[in-house]
Amino acid sequence: MDRLQAEQRVEQLNTQLREYGHAYYVLDKPAVPDAVYDQLLNELIELETQYPDLVFPDSPTQRVGGQPLEGFSKVTHAYPMLSLSNVFGEEDLREFDRRVRSGASGEIRYVCELKIDGLAVSLLYEDGRLVRGATRGDGRIGEDITANLRTIRSVPLRLNEPATIEVRGEAYMPKKSFHQLNLDREARGEELFANPRNAAAGSLRQLDPKIAASRNLSVFAYGIGGDGSDLPVVGHEDTLRYLEKLGLRINPEREVCSSVEEVQAYIEKWTEKRNDLSYEIDGIVIKVDLYEQQEELGFTAKSPRWATAYKFPAEEVVTKLLDIELSVGRTGAVTPTAILEPVRVAGTTVQRASLHNEDLIREKDVRIGDQVIIRKAGDIIPEVVASLIEQREGTEEPFVMPSECPACGSELVRIEGEVVLRCVNPKCPAQITEGLIHFVSRNAMNIEGLGEKVVEQLYREGLVSDVSDLYELTKEQLMGLERMGEKSASNLMAAIDASRSNSMERLLFGLGIRHVGEKAARILSEEFGSFDRLMTASLEELTAVHEIGDKMADAVVTYFDNEEVRALIGRLQERGVNLSYTGKRVRLAEGETVFAGKTVVLTGKLETLSRGEAKERIESLGGKVSGSVSKRTDLVIAGEEAGSKLEKAESLGIEVWDEQRFMEQFND
Ligand code: IVH
Repeated sequence: MDRLQAEQRVEQLNTQLREYGHAYYVLDKPAVPDAVYDQLLNELIELETQYPDLVFPDSPTQRVGGQPLEGFSKVTHAYPMLSLSNVFGEEDLREFDRRVRSGASGEIRYVCELKIDGLAVSLLYEDGRLVRGATRGDGRIGEDITANLRTIRSVPLRLNEPATIEVRGEAYMPKKSFHQLNLDREARGEELFANPRNAAAGSLRQLDPKIAASRNLSVFAYGIGGDGSDLPVVGHEDTLRYLEKLGLRINPEREVCSSVEEVQAYIEKWTEKRNDLSYEIDGIVIKVDLYEQQEELGFTAKSPRWATAYKFPAEEVVTKLLDIELSVGRTGAVTPTAILEPVRVAGTTVQRASLHNEDLIREKDVRIGDQVIIRKAGDIIPEVVASLIEQREGTEEPFVMPSECPACGSELVRIEGEVVLRCVNPKCPAQITEGLIHFVSRNAMNIEGLGEKVVEQLYREGLVSDVSDLYELTKEQLMGLERMGEKSASNLMAAIDASRSNSMERLLFGLGIRHVGEKAARILSEEFGSFDRLMTASLEELTAVHEIGDKMADAVVTYFDNEEVRALIGRLQERGVNLSYTGKRVRLAEGETVFAGKTVVLTGKLETLSRGEAKERIESLGGKVSGSVSKRTDLVIAGEEAGSKLEKAESLGIEVWDEQRFMEQFND
């Protein structure tokens, strides 16, 4: 075969294999026996080996990439990936329907779909080719997992038409594959995945695409990024058909309903039948069909008003309460935890569950030895719902809260107006370790590699007794800890060092001042700019800050009034920890975006984005982009070589940002 013939044959094989693959993986209807597919694939592999320049990026042989990645890069979604509001019963559903009907004009039609229990992904196609696949992340910024998504056979590498479109869908692991995977892992002595959702997410978070490729994942497409105005569609159902035509896999169980009764019937049908499906679902999604009506209804900060999710009720199971354990938190609060006979609930084995506080135990009359009902709150955190009093044998023991701290023995107190008992000894080892754990946690100083076990050890060994000691640790000291090799010790040293330059709000939150959560720490840091200023701020100055109430202001003043605290801050400073605010983000109220309601003008050349992309981002965050600068302009983004528009903005006193400042609005 000469080169020209080879080229033609390769093209033919690509087309044929794509079609057969589509029939098998997308439509679930094999067009040819497996042996035929394999034979054609082998022929293609041979030709590609002979003529390496005929290997096309979307050839079926190119699903699994070469080298493992070093890490995932961040992706800013052109349109935020929102989540859905929830309804839990018929009453809620009727309320949702009422709101829809009063907010949109015309007849309402809903599309009801299964809510697949996996993870949301975005698939970006340009001219019909898959160019990027990403996770949802925080909805604004996700991770680039293209290499892993390419390995999923139901994700077409090339569409049937050269469309440019962002497809949204759910990646999941079928139940059978999940069970097989766990059987294999068990046999190899590896940790098991709790449920198919975790298994799918874990597989897509692997840096080596070979792992994802071996995991039998699949994707159902359920929508698009954007409002569809650039597509030949008028509504959701229409879009799904269009996606299907492009070659994407669409869930076949959807139904169009025109009344709550029909929606309710759909919900009931799938509540009954969910166990018959080959994949897990955790509810039903109800979407208003027509885009015109969707637009009328709009969005809240987090979710569309034109859609909602009916969540299946939490699964409840019965098990035995073996004991009640007490733990002392960072603020000294002593909380009881139920120790249970291990039991499976909603996909995981549960051995501990929250009992909240002593009053609740008494109110529910929960006794040690009882048979208790367990449920997962929000399907995640296990809790004890009730005891089965009629099943008691007489040996069960009521729980008595001790009067002393289980960690340090000092007397517990009940602060007026609180339900919890507290240990008020500032030297209590449990409080100190919990405080350290909080300090290093992700949302505080974010010191990676300092897990609970390491912190506990550091404290036990006398290496760290307050947070400032972390900054005097040596690599040798770290290497002396259990299960700490040289590499981990170096990494940990580097992570501790990096945390020195965190902006002030992380340190402020990390100190664990009462009532000062993450948001308050950010506001205080933005407002006062440095610890120096904050530490000398008066009650009046603090309460003058919008959103800072009396309780919080009081807690801040009292905290910094303490000699020991001042000494601690002094030590942190000596040890090179940054005490000032270095963040540049504009302060926002919850749900607000920097660009909401603003008229923005783009001028000059942007390096990181095209004009169109920048415009899209501003618009997706509620801003309007205009072509010329006038008095009505709120903000000008000036790139390189900005000319007369920049001059005009300056002469009108309009705020001007450079590209870096603009891009910072999209990074955390
Ligand atoms: S629509 C703007 N449809 O459920 C709303 N979501 O909070 C976009 N999910 O993270 C979501 N099946 O990953 C939609 N048929 C379906 C879905 C579905 C599963 C997930 C999705 C999202 C979460 C909703």
